[in-house]
Amino acid sequence: MSEKEQEKEKKLIAFVSGSTGFVGMNLVRYLLKKNEVKVRCLCRKKTFSEYSKWFSDLDVEIVDGDLTNYESLVKGMENCTYAYNAAGVVSFKGGDKNLLFKVNVLGARNFALAAAKNNIKRIIHISSAITAEVEEDISNPTTEDSTFNPFKNHSYYETSKYHSEAELLKISLQTGLEVVFINPVAILGEFDFKMSPVGLMFKKIAQNKIPVFPSKGKYSFVGAYDIAKASYRAMKYGKNGQKYIISHDEQLTTEKLLDWILESTNAKKPKLMINSTALKYVAWVKDMFEKYFFTFDRFFEVASLFSYHSMKYLCSGQVYDNSLVKKDLGIKFKSLKVCFEEHIDWLKNNGFIVIKKNDEDDDEDDDEDEDEDDNFTDDFYNENENENENQNENENQNQNQNEKQNQNQN
Ligand SMILES: *[C@@H]1O[C@H](CO)[C@@H](O)[C@H](O)[C@H]1NC(C)=O
Ligand SMILES: *[C@@H]1O[C@H](CO)[C@@H](O)[C@H](O)[C@H]1NC(C)=O
Ligand SMILES: *[C@@H]1O[C@H](CO)[C@@H](O)[C@H](O)[C@H]1NC(C)=O
Ligand SMILES: *[C@@H]1O[C@H](CO)[C@@H](O)[C@H](O)[C@H]1NC(C)=O
Repeated sequence: MSEKEQEKEKKLIAFVSGSTGFVGMNLVRYLLKKNEVKVRCLCRKKTFSEYSKWFSDLDVEIVDGDLTNYESLVKGMENCTYAYNAAGVVSFKGGDKNLLFKVNVLGARNFALAAAKNNIKRIIHISSAITAEVEEDISNPTTEDSTFNPFKNHSYYETSKYHSEAELLKISLQTGLEVVFINPVAILGEFDFKMSPVGLMFKKIAQNKIPVFPSKGKYSFVGAYDIAKASYRAMKYGKNGQKYIISHDEQLTTEKLLDWILESTNAKKPKLMINSTALKYVAWVKDMFEKYFFTFDRFFEVASLFSYHSMKYLCSGQVYDNSLVKKDLGIKFKSLKVCFEEHIDWLKNNGFIVIKKNDEDDDEDDDEDEDEDDNFTDDFYNENENENENQNENENQNQNQNEKQNQNQN
């Protein structure tokens, strides 16, 4: 055994779930760069084979399993000292609620119980800023102590993320396992190979496929790299049981973001700019229609981006207070312009966004044009690795049925 190998053997092991996701992949790379631990990634075999390309330059151990399989977690965490849960389903479709519960809530619970069983001292759970409530009075920034209001119109995704935190706190009290929460806002950064909603929006604008865009909207963003850094530091320095909102100080207006996208893709400005508050209600009508009839994203990929909940964020203008993460974890955030450029350049350099050289054939209604890179986007909802694609598809197709079944179950 070479000296380098011996050195590596001595290192403690960090377990990471969701490593094929946007945050997970950035986290794995950050941990490797720190060179303090060995990294073991939880991945389903099928998911790994699909995304193995993005691991080819990484010195990691891959273990088979997923959050819904408790035994795979217990086995996978054997001999690990640290565990990061970056897996979860991101979806705003009503039909996905069972899946959201199974993975985001019960899966997180399995993760924590498996960690406790392996005597892991602390886990980091990647959650979302939406579990801290948007304040009624938006002149009050949302802090870690803002309370989730159960009587508001939350998406099933939001509710699942909130409950995952509650479950983990419960397990923490019962077992003594330490839990620290990382609660990021919308994410910009590299390795968006599953196409997050933000990445998909960039792509569709670049293809001139978004005819309407919200104006007067504003939202908070943060770099995936900073989320990874905060997760790493939360393991070392975070307070037990604490949530950390991860958000840049500045917000981005929809107009500014659009300008940046147009500038770096040579795309045309969408024909209609509509006040995001007005769009929110249009989206609500669409969501209601989809709830009872069928979902438009079977026909138009962009339809999935436009929902009551996505517009709700944009027009809330809510500011997130990031002072705690600065104070406790010493994070200095990368500028949003830099994060944006990393994101769009990465998508461009990896063929996810193809820039047209000139205006020759940009007919607007070219939906029948096959996108060369569409294969990458078919499951952008499942940002992290722990979803079940087949089930997901079935659920979408049988959305009405599921809604009814779910109601019966309740
Ligand atoms: C855990 O460590 C023990 C003792 O070193 C070893 O026998 C076992 O194979 C390890 N398990 C895993 C999953 O690495
Ligand atoms: C929000 O929820 C309330 C109470 O359930 C309902 O009356 C209202 O229509 C909902 N509004 C929207 C825009 O979804
Ligand atoms: C957007 O529209 C809403 C509702 O019509 C209005 O109250 C609001 O002032 C508008 N926002 C801006 C910034 O113009
Ligand atoms: C997309 O997937 C299909 C079926 O698996 C394959 O035939 C096609 O070559 C793929 N296209 C690209 C651009 O990868």
